[in-house]
Parts: sequence; structure tokens; C-alpha cells
Amino acid sequence: MFAHDAITTNITWTQEISRIVQKRCAICHAAGRDIPLSNYEEARPWAKAIRDQVLSRKMPPWGAVKGVGDFRNDPGLTPLEIELFTHWVEGGAPKGDEMFLPKATFTVAPVRQQPCASTLSMMAGNHTARGTFKAVQPAGLPAGAALEASAELPGGEVRRLIWIRDFPSLHTAPYIFRQPLILPAGSRVFIDAPSGVRLLLCR
Ligand code: HEC
Repeated sequence: MFAHDAITTNITWTQEISRIVQKRCAICHAAGRDIPLSNYEEARPWAKAIRDQVLSRKMPPWGAVKGVGDFRNDPGLTPLEIELFTHWVEGGAPKGDEMFLPKATFTVAPVRQQPCASTLSMMAGNHTARGTFKAVQPAGLPAGAALEASAELPGGEVRRLIWIRDFPSLHTAPYIFRQPLILPAGSRVFIDAPSGVRLLLCR
């Protein structure tokens, strides 16, 4: 049935899409995985699902709402990347000429996970805290649940730290701040989370 879809785009797998998938999706969708997207033949049947997943920002899994906190390991697609996926799928998901395929094989260096060895662990509520923190990481947050954290500095400035909505249980890495969070003595941290869930502040 796909073969009969009219091609109405010049965005192709071999030129644009394979490169985005390689950079943004390959680590979890390599050949041999449950949902491999390592070449056109594997990815084509998933085209409409790919569009839906990237438009709803379910893929790549992350969970933190954009605009709250600033994280340097945010894997989110750029608006241009989302647009390229959308145009490609809605234009019939063409393959393109093989000669344009990226030279590199479909392998990706594993993401280096910052260890979160020394932590301050907090349940929902209102806490005093001080120190310098590089990252936050939820512990025990169920898939689909929400968590919100903010800090009030001694001068009264309130800073939103993170807002996780519809937590993807696939995301297990810490959320690494672009700038370390410095909490002087007298700071407070507020956490809104389901009972039993903790937020780890990583030093
Ligand atoms: C951190 C790992 C990871 C990354 C990165 C990732 N995915 Fe996924 N993806 C998964 C897992 C695991 C599933 C299976 C999820 C499930 O069963 O709910 C999945 C499922 C999917 C599905 C199937 C959804 C359905 O309809 O069932 C699509 C399509 C998809 N991913 C596309 C992508 C695309 C496109 C990218 C890159 C932009 C991407 N994924 C990046 C882990 C990842």
C-alpha cells in the first residue's frame, strides 16, 4: 500500500532523515532492537508512528518540560528536525538515492552518563538545602507521573528547577544542569511529587 502513496516531498531518507535518526534515535533503535530504525526498509513501516512520536515529543524520551530548567543532556529535537520528519512522512516517506546515504555505519558511541554518586535526597515537601549541584534525578517516579521542583534563594528569588510531566520510565539518566545550581545557606527547595518519590540533587 505504501508503494502507491504519492511522493510530494523532496525530503528523503537517504539525505536528511537517516542523518537525524542516526544522531538522535540510533542509540535505542539500532538493528536488532525491538523497533529497529537502522535503514529505510526497517524505518518505512514506522513512518507514521515516527511522525506521531516526534510531534508529541514522546521520542526521544526525556520527560522534562521545555522552558523549565536548562539541561545540557536534553536530547530534544530541534523544531527544524521535527519539521523534516513531518514533511518526509506526509510527503510519502520517500527513500531517495542510495548515493546520498551517510558514509558512517549506523553505530553510536554510548552516552557518557555522569555518575550521580553524592546526592541530597528529598521527598515531596519543603526543605532547607545548601551546596552546589550539577544535576537532579528522580528516584521511584512511576511512568506517566509528574514531579516539579523549585528553589527559593535567601534573597527571595524563586528558580524553577525542573518540571517532569508524563515521566518516560525509559529515561534513567540524571538531568544535568547547563549551569551548576548554587544554593547558598538559607535556601529552600520545594518538591511536588507523588508520595514515596524522591528527588536526588547530585553534587
Ligand atoms: C533512550 C532510548 C530511545 C531513543 C533515544 C529513542 N527511542 Fe523511540 N523508543 C524507545 C523504546 C524503548 C520504545 C518502545 C516503547 C514502548 O514500547 O512504549 C520506542 C518506541 C518508538 C516508536 C514506536 C512507538 C509506537 O507506536 O509503539 C517509534 C516510532 C520511535 N520509538 C521512534 C523514535 C525516533 C524517531 C527517535 C529519534 C528521534 C527515537 N525513537 C528515539 C527508545 C528510544
